[in-house]
Amino acid sequence: MSLRSPAEAFEKVPTIIFADSAAAAKALAQEVKEIITTKNKAGQPAVLGMATGSTPVPFYRELIRLHKEEGLSFKNLITFNLDEYFGLAPDHPESYARFMAEQIFDHIDIPKANINIPSGTISSDQVFNHCRDYEQKIDSVGGIDLQILGIGRTGHIGFNEPGSSRDSLTRRITLDRVTRQDAASDFRGEQNVPHFAITMGVGTILRAKKLVLMAWGENKGGVVAKAVEGPMTEAVSASFLQDHPDARFFIDQGASRELTRIKLPWLVGPVSWTPRETRRAMVWQAFKTKRPVLKLIDEHYNEHGLSDLLSEQGPAYQLNIRIFNQLQHTITGWPGGKPDEDDTYRPERARPFPKRCLVLSPEPQDAIVGMGGTIDRLIEQGHDVHLISLTSGSLRVPDSEADKFAGTLLELSSNAAKPDEWKAQVVYGKEALSQLDAKGEFGEDTPVLRQLKGLILRGELRDAAQALGLDHNHVTFLDLPFYEQGRYRRFKSTQADVEALKKLLLEHKPHQIFLTGDAADPSSVSGITFRLLISALQACTGEEFANSCSLWLYRGKERALEAHEIDMAVPMSPLQIERKENALNRYSALSSLEKEAPETNRENARNYDSLGLAEYEAIEVFQRCRRN
Ligand code: GLP
Repeated sequence: MSLRSPAEAFEKVPTIIFADSAAAAKALAQEVKEIITTKNKAGQPAVLGMATGSTPVPFYRELIRLHKEEGLSFKNLITFNLDEYFGLAPDHPESYARFMAEQIFDHIDIPKANINIPSGTISSDQVFNHCRDYEQKIDSVGGIDLQILGIGRTGHIGFNEPGSSRDSLTRRITLDRVTRQDAASDFRGEQNVPHFAITMGVGTILRAKKLVLMAWGENKGGVVAKAVEGPMTEAVSASFLQDHPDARFFIDQGASRELTRIKLPWLVGPVSWTPRETRRAMVWQAFKTKRPVLKLIDEHYNEHGLSDLLSEQGPAYQLNIRIFNQLQHTITGWPGGKPDEDDTYRPERARPFPKRCLVLSPEPQDAIVGMGGTIDRLIEQGHDVHLISLTSGSLRVPDSEADKFAGTLLELSSNAAKPDEWKAQVVYGKEALSQLDAKGEFGEDTPVLRQLKGLILRGELRDAAQALGLDHNHVTFLDLPFYEQGRYRRFKSTQADVEALKKLLLEHKPHQIFLTGDAADPSSVSGITFRLLISALQACTGEEFANSCSLWLYRGKERALEAHEIDMAVPMSPLQIERKENALNRYSALSSLEKEAPETNRENARNYDSLGLAEYEAIEVFQRCRRN
């Protein structure tokens, strides 16, 4: 785990790529332990800057473990949180004060008086004084020893949105549209997300003695690369970490994917030309020169730092043909395999036919977003397709929807010819309405409300599936416990989740599984369900189906696959993309990214076309999944 190396020449902040977020969290927690112990010995308090969001959760869990299992005491720790939503009381379920209490402070022995979080409830005329006092308090305890940071999609640290200056101090700020979109699921809709926050400034953050910014999952890949390799700019406040003598990025593989050393390794040093790296370089070169693969010539290779590849695998024309054929072989109109055809160069094997296909959707909309057209084809080609929503999706449903459905139920009951037969429904509807009233807009949903909200989405998914020709009884909801008992950004999975998935697999004994979430933030619903599925599959080792079934990764709301990553490309006719759009329209609350799915499918087709392959209307893409 050395820091600078020639391959990291493009990086302006030391960046450490860990195997996964758990390993990074462990390493960081060890550093904190050392700071606390050293300061303790010197008779001084340790001062830690804290962050919220899903990113630091594994780190907080590790600190709690160190406290409970290794007796690490936090009695001499003082903390300062980066930010708080303006307008939210500390007991609001989405306030950062509550988040911190639930995720760490309630589980360790830090004195309450040592915890500092900007207030979300001071009046507007007190904001200035409050912020000035916050700054002074940080200085009065000797400054922050280590500041923990996450990063938002706009590149913000704390809530320092684009435009925040290098020297900005603690202040009230207006949240960016993108930030509010990203918080929409926490608040059950963008319209409920606060517009303002109080945040430490960039200047406040840079006064800390050490800084560690953590980022997980490939959705953060783009912004991490901008912050680490791009110019220092107010447009990406995290880029100012380049201006600090002791700042580091701790990231996982997903978040590293846009760094030059990972994305374009041939620009920074010698490369071992594996088939995947070769394909990556060829596709990149073709896009860069705006030429189809078959028209690349020696000059292009040389001008793009690929002379090494050319001398190892050339001449150019042979190499071009080889890669062209590989790309060509990813295309198939038979995602379940083409029966009675030679399948040597086809992505999926021909036999058995028809196949038992299990399409797994983390939340009810994901599979239709990622592979609606392919579901349509699989059904059309006679496979036995089962669509399983792994969770109810109930956390996405706003109270207003539950209110509407409970109201409709009561309305129906009161108009019934035999009111006696509707007693149970009346009780249910009334109970739901009174629980909605009692909990307030963002309060924790009761089991009854969760159930009602889940039922609403069941209807939507069945409807969407039907638009693709999938029968009601081929659509199932698994309601995994981690989701039903959790909240966004702080889910905790257990063995019960693995067991439920194992049971599902044993019931279906699929020949083909479609899943997603390999590259997602490990704390997101798709990231969690992906890891659970791999564990469940491992628990089925020895079963015949588990050894032979093929696993295909699709992409839901995460970044689309790039051409060199694709193992199976399923073309869609204009009619099919229309059917997919129809199916997506059945959902009432798709995010803007989810709504863009058909456009992404069209973009895939344009990319294949410009590489010199056939020109289709749209393409859904898949990657083969490694099992460990
Ligand atoms: C919010 C917080 C940031 C955090 C960001 C990313 O904007 N104010 O401090 O880094 O969210 O959140 P997550 O870690 O959930 O991706």
